[in-house]
Amino acid sequence: MTRVLVVGGTGLAGRAVTSEAIARGHDVVVASRRVPDDDSEQYVDGAVYETADIVSGNGLEAVLDGVDVLVDTTNGSGRTAAHVFAHGSQNLLHTAARFGVHQAVLLSIVNVDRSTYAYYRAKAAQERVYRESPLNTRILRTTQFHDFVSAIFARGTAAVVPAPTKTSFQPIAVSDVARLLVDAAEGQGEADSTLTVGGPKVETARALAEQWKAATGARGAIVPVRLGGALGSFLRAGENLIPGNALPGIDYGTWLSSNAA
Ligand SMILES: NC(=O)c1ccc[n+]([C@@H]2O[C@H](COP(=O)([O-])OP(=O)(O)OC[C@H]3O[C@@H](n4cnc5c(N)ncnc54)[C@H](OP(=O)(O)O)[C@@H]3O)[C@@H](O)[C@H]2O)c1
Repeated sequence: MTRVLVVGGTGLAGRAVTSEAIARGHDVVVASRRVPDDDSEQYVDGAVYETADIVSGNGLEAVLDGVDVLVDTTNGSGRTAAHVFAHGSQNLLHTAARFGVHQAVLLSIVNVDRSTYAYYRAKAAQERVYRESPLNTRILRTTQFHDFVSAIFARGTAAVVPAPTKTSFQPIAVSDVARLLVDAAEGQGEADSTLTVGGPKVETARALAEQWKAATGARGAIVPVRLGGALGSFLRAGENLIPGNALPGIDYGTWLSSNAA
C-alpha cells in the first residue's frame, strides 16, 4: 500500500483519482482548502480529508508528512489560476521535497503551452515548475473532459444550445483520466516524462451538441457561436486535439447515457 496525497482531491478530477486510488488499495489523503461534509458528493468513503492551501502554504507540512506520492488536481479561475498553478505548485513541491516525497504527478491539458489564453499560460507555468522540480515528476496532459463540453451546451438558454463554430473536441471521461493518473502515481511510465492522451473520438461541436440535446431532452436550437479570444483561436486551430493518441475509453455518447442528468 502506498500513501497517496491527492491535492485538490475534492474537485471533479480529484474525486475520481481518490476513488480510483482507494479501489486499488492505497492509503489516500485528500488536501483542499475546505473539507467536505461526509454526506456531500465531494466525499469519497475511505479517504482522509485534511485542510491545506497550496498558495498560502497553510497546512501543507502536516499533509505531506509520510506521503509516498502526490497527485496534483488543483484548479483556479481568473486571477487565482496564476496563484494556484505557478506559486501554489512551487510551495507544494518545495515542501514535498523537504518532507522526503519523491514522486509527483500533475494533471495538465493537451498543447497548453501553445496558447496565450491566460489560464493556459498559468498551466504551462505550472508544468515548468514540475519539470524543474527535484522530485520525480510525471505530467499527464489530456483533452477536455466530457463535463467541460456539456458545460458549454448547458450555458445556453431554453431556446438556444451554443455550439462553437469550426471547433471539434476529443473529450475524455474523468474516470479514464483518473486511471492514468493513478497508474502514474504507481510509477508507470518514465520518471520526468509527459504522457499526452485524448478521448476516443474527435467530433464536431455540433455533433456533440446533438448528442447532448438527445440525452438531456433540451429543446433549444443548436446555434453556432464564435468563441472569442485566445481560447477560441486555440480551439478553431484544433490545438485541443490529439487524434494519434486517442485512448479507447468511454466516448461522449456513452458517458452521456449515465451522466446526462
Ligand atoms: N476541465 C477539463 O476539461 C480539463 C482537461 C484537462 C485537464 N484539466 C485540469 O484538471 C485540473 C482539475 O480540474 P477540475 O475541473 O477537476 O478542478 P475543480 O473541480 O475546480 O477542483 C479543483 C480542486 O482544487 C482545490 N483547490 C483550489 N485551490 C486550492 C488551493 N489554493 N489549495 C489547495 N487546494 C485548492 C479545490 O478545493 P478548494 O476550493 O476547497 O480548495 C478542488 O479540490 C485543472 O488543473 C485543469 O486544468 C481540466
